[in-house]
Amino acid sequence: MKVLVLYYSQTGQLKEIANNCLSPLVADASLELDFVKVETEHQFPFPWSRLEFFNAFPESVYGTPFKLKPIKVDESKNYDLIVLAYTVWYLNPSIPISSLLQHEDAKKIFNGKKVITLLGSRNMWVLAQEKVKRHLKNLEADLVGNIVLIDRNKNLVSIITIVRWMFYGKKNPFWGFPRAGIIQEDIESSNKFGKVILNRLKTNNHSDMQNDLNEIGAVDINPSLLILEKRATKLFGMYAGFLSKKGGFYNKERLGRVSLLSYLLPIGAFILSPVTTISSYLISIIKKKELNEEIRYFKQNSLRE
Ligand SMILES: Cc1cc2nc3c(=O)[nH]c(=O)nc-3n(C[C@H](O)[C@H](O)[C@H](O)COP(=O)(O)O)c2cc1C
Repeated sequence: MKVLVLYYSQTGQLKEIANNCLSPLVADASLELDFVKVETEHQFPFPWSRLEFFNAFPESVYGTPFKLKPIKVDESKNYDLIVLAYTVWYLNPSIPISSLLQHEDAKKIFNGKKVITLLGSRNMWVLAQEKVKRHLKNLEADLVGNIVLIDRNKNLVSIITIVRWMFYGKKNPFWGFPRAGIIQEDIESSNKFGKVILNRLKTNNHSDMQNDLNEIGAVDINPSLLILEKRATKLFGMYAGFLSKKGGFYNKERLGRVSLLSYLLPIGAFILSPVTTISSYLISIIKKKELNEEIRYFKQNSLRE
């Protein structure tokens, strides 16, 4: 059996997750596992400068495809499963992965294939996954599983630690703040998901695999974060329009507005977030039934029309 892992990981965190999660498959002699990194020709820097980080905002939000380096997938291998490992940028699939899903070769790679998505993000990914579901549907692929690892620290704490990590490349704990990113223990224990995948591959039965994965914590959705994410998505659409009016990714004229966003977004997060966190929490209690239904949908792989 052959499994293809398509991934983009900038700092290596998602690659480490994929390595751990899929280690039961690597250890099985009857399986062949190919890791293929997806890369844009434009090199996104790490650590990021402030302007470069925020300049990626409109294209992430709009899902504007970038030119990719050749995708090194051997199309003569008839893969039994594709694992699409991706991160989230500004509530959307990262630019390299969004570019892959719109690439002319994507149809050849994904058409008719069973796909499992594997995410490693901060804590807001739900609506990005809806976009990935839509792309996969257009490519006529069959999404059979979803596994999501997030930073389980408090929202504002993870904003502070991730900003330090992204801008200064520092992940270590500091001033009482925890280590940035996804808790190491969660990364290391993710091989439990790989065991489920291996078992399903061997029995060639992927129906309802998500239920097995969910039982061991593959997808955990916090109702207040979901409300926050939906609100932020609306705002992000407006900001992206405001920035794009001054030109595209390489247009220096828009850097003034990019710089403005680089102050507005953190201020918004720190001043408004505590208020919106409380209001989202209250809404999550008042609209509990409605939200639970929505969460049930987001924990599965079907796509709402
Ligand atoms: C430009 C940018 C925007 C990001 N936006 C989000 C986001 O909206 N939601 C989220 O959960 N994580 C977000 N993250 C965190 C990433 O999803 C990811 O966890 C982190 O970049 C490490 O991934 P890596 O494996 O590519 O190094 C963002 C990261 C970057 C670089």
